[in-house]
Amino acid sequence: MNYKIALIKGDGIGPEVVGEAVNVLDAVGRKFGHTFTYTDVLMGGCATDAVGVSYPDGTAEKCKECDAVLLGAVGGPKWGADKPAEQRPETALLAIRKDLGLYANLRPAVLRPALKDACPLRAETADKGIDLMLVRELTGGIYFGQRERYDTPDRGVECADRMAYSELEIERIGRRAFELARLRRKKVSSVDKANVLETSRLWRSVMHRLSAEYPDVAYEDVLVDNCAMQIVRDPGQFDVMVTENMFGDILSDEASMVTGSIGLLPSASMGDHAPALYEPIHGSAPDIAGQDKANPIATILSAAMMLRYSFHLADEADAVERAVDAVLAAGWRTADTAEPGVTPVGTRKMGELICAAL
Ligand code: IPM
Ligand code: MG
Repeated sequence: MNYKIALIKGDGIGPEVVGEAVNVLDAVGRKFGHTFTYTDVLMGGCATDAVGVSYPDGTAEKCKECDAVLLGAVGGPKWGADKPAEQRPETALLAIRKDLGLYANLRPAVLRPALKDACPLRAETADKGIDLMLVRELTGGIYFGQRERYDTPDRGVECADRMAYSELEIERIGRRAFELARLRRKKVSSVDKANVLETSRLWRSVMHRLSAEYPDVAYEDVLVDNCAMQIVRDPGQFDVMVTENMFGDILSDEASMVTGSIGLLPSASMGDHAPALYEPIHGSAPDIAGQDKANPIATILSAAMMLRYSFHLADEADAVERAVDAVLAAGWRTADTAEPGVTPVGTRKMGELICAAL
């Protein structure tokens, strides 16, 4: 089969890590008899530099001509909060999520066996393992609600950000979570703030209705503050976690940190139609850009998620994940995960090792 992939290499270390993921995809193609063809799509700070805006006209359309999108990273201090919205990379990220209808963001947090010592939690907690899948709602809530800024007569400037959720939005993300749980350890933890927020009360009632449709999946409600605590106390208790956009933003950073290796974690964003978008959860790391220091594993594992979820190539995805684990088990590390005394390898060498292990 031939698969068309849009590459948004982006800023900072983005081009380097995407380059290694492409090498791994090509190695998969040779081994399993597929061809992958690539189209570069300009987006992010690099687009601002080249054409004046971070999200050039036609960006979403170019992606829609492909079967899936692989994104490196966008952002950097050069295009900071003081710049107009159309020049900021984050604007492009939110726009592409909305334009491609990517309402379901899958962020696995996995403690890879070879990296147990990188886990900042107690050894007995790490020994239990961490393998949770955070399902974050990605196109609704406070991220996309109306924003206001106005003067008041006696309290200075006042601002408001509206958080709204409809039953339709909650139900479709909920179904994703239950369906995913069926393929895993069959447990869904729904995270909300139903003791305070009306959106959370609606969220909870829709999740309860869905839960009745999935009697084979265990279900629990978790308040978001308690959830933040449980992630550092006993992350092994979670299988699939589902939550609204901003809670998911915050909890996914926390969950990735307890695995000790934010440089290793991939993500997928999907809607009801192709293309889905795959990206490492780490940022553009401008401080090490262009120095062959970045860890390409998160992007390589994002490509594995693409094989699994967009192309339904489970054997190929398993092969990539096994190759990554084999290279880590053999002791190879990039600088971000190197234990004291271990000489790190560069981005390119790590990519070559993974291709060879395939
Ligand atoms: C993420 C990021 C983005 C978000 C930012 C860069 C807009 O933090 O993907 O988690 O908040 O969604
Ligand atoms: Mg975030």
